[in-house]
Amino acid sequence: MRLVQVFTCAFISLALSGCVKMTLAWADLRPDGPEAAPPALATTIENWEKNHAPALRDAFQAHVYGYLPDAYELEILSREVLDEEAFDGVARLTEYKLQAQLRFGDEVHQTKPFYMDVASPVGDETAPIILMQTFCPRWDTIPHPAVSRPENAGGCSGGGIGASVMTYVFGRYIATPPIKMIVERGYGVATIFPSEFAPDSRERGLAALTAMSRGIAPGKSRWGAVAAWAWGFSLMVDALESDEAIKSSDYITFGHSRYGKSALLAAAFDERIGGVIAHQSGTGGASLNRRKKGESVAAITKSYPHWFAESYAAYAGREEEMPVDQHQLLALIAPRPVLLGNARRDVWSDPNGAFRAAIGADPVYELYGSVGLDQTRLDEWKPQAALSFWIRPGTHGVVKEDWPAFLEFLDAHFD
Ligand code: GCU
Repeated sequence: MRLVQVFTCAFISLALSGCVKMTLAWADLRPDGPEAAPPALATTIENWEKNHAPALRDAFQAHVYGYLPDAYELEILSREVLDEEAFDGVARLTEYKLQAQLRFGDEVHQTKPFYMDVASPVGDETAPIILMQTFCPRWDTIPHPAVSRPENAGGCSGGGIGASVMTYVFGRYIATPPIKMIVERGYGVATIFPSEFAPDSRERGLAALTAMSRGIAPGKSRWGAVAAWAWGFSLMVDALESDEAIKSSDYITFGHSRYGKSALLAAAFDERIGGVIAHQSGTGGASLNRRKKGESVAAITKSYPHWFAESYAAYAGREEEMPVDQHQLLALIAPRPVLLGNARRDVWSDPNGAFRAAIGADPVYELYGSVGLDQTRLDEWKPQAALSFWIRPGTHGVVKEDWPAFLEFLDAHFD
């Protein structure tokens, strides 16, 4: 690669991650900063499940993500096996056309139809299924010619300089995970592109989210896209559970960055989700709001007003006053396994804030008698721990060494 290209890529890398200064910094590998507050404590599992957890779910909706629908129904419009022997014969590829009806108060809203594609290991109906939302459309996540796509659809992996720069900057797996490697290892992959029903754009996103939640009770915050995408993960479980050809009992949400936020939220609200891989989920994900490095509440709510409830923006500069913090989101997932993926130079997503959140969530894992966080430094990764914190060198993205680590974690918990 010519020098000028290297410089162009490096510049775009820094600019795109919105963090020129932060990307040049390094996360300290020792825990750094104050303890998570308020503490996630409960005396008994019963007390936690009956009192603390419901109150926290309400508080997260009120102060961070906005409210999920009062009720919803999913309709499976069609289901088609696209290829019995995809990816060199290892995967069966199935496509579902879905549509959801949701209700806030008395107002019923219908989403546009959207698709889910599933690559599942041939001959293994019970394989755990990784539910994925990625930056790129479904046809990039599961690159198979039979996957439906709108006419003239764009995408990330169509070749050309844009796709090469993206891969160069954000890693080889940013657009397309190693589907064959994952399926051969015994896991299915299901994917939706959540922008099909909740667009990741300020104007269109806000318009769609506001329209969907028109009937919300006065005084409650409308949901943001992160909550809508989290709900999307639950829709995926609904669709898979209704399919007689799938007998899995393990659903793991996977998301990088913004979708790491939705992957965590989905598990905190939906107990059918058995585990989470949240890679570089940052602010609004695993990293604490209080005393943070990297992206502040002010920065995230200014750049992405459609991701959260309006109430979250009101805590900009007053994070200490928030009645909840992100360690409590992790605690809501206990005792289910969570992998928190991080990178040393991805200080924008604040690895240390995520580590302190894991320390803060640990007492609830212990309450369940599970090994929560089993490391005292950021670089003592234990894939078998239920709160598993992984940090690698490098920056924001999904790179060569990430998927092997994700699979090691999954094998430790779901094999
Ligand atoms: C931006 C944003 C982060 C987000 C990231 C991503 O950098 O500030 O909060 O996680 O985009 O989704 O890649």
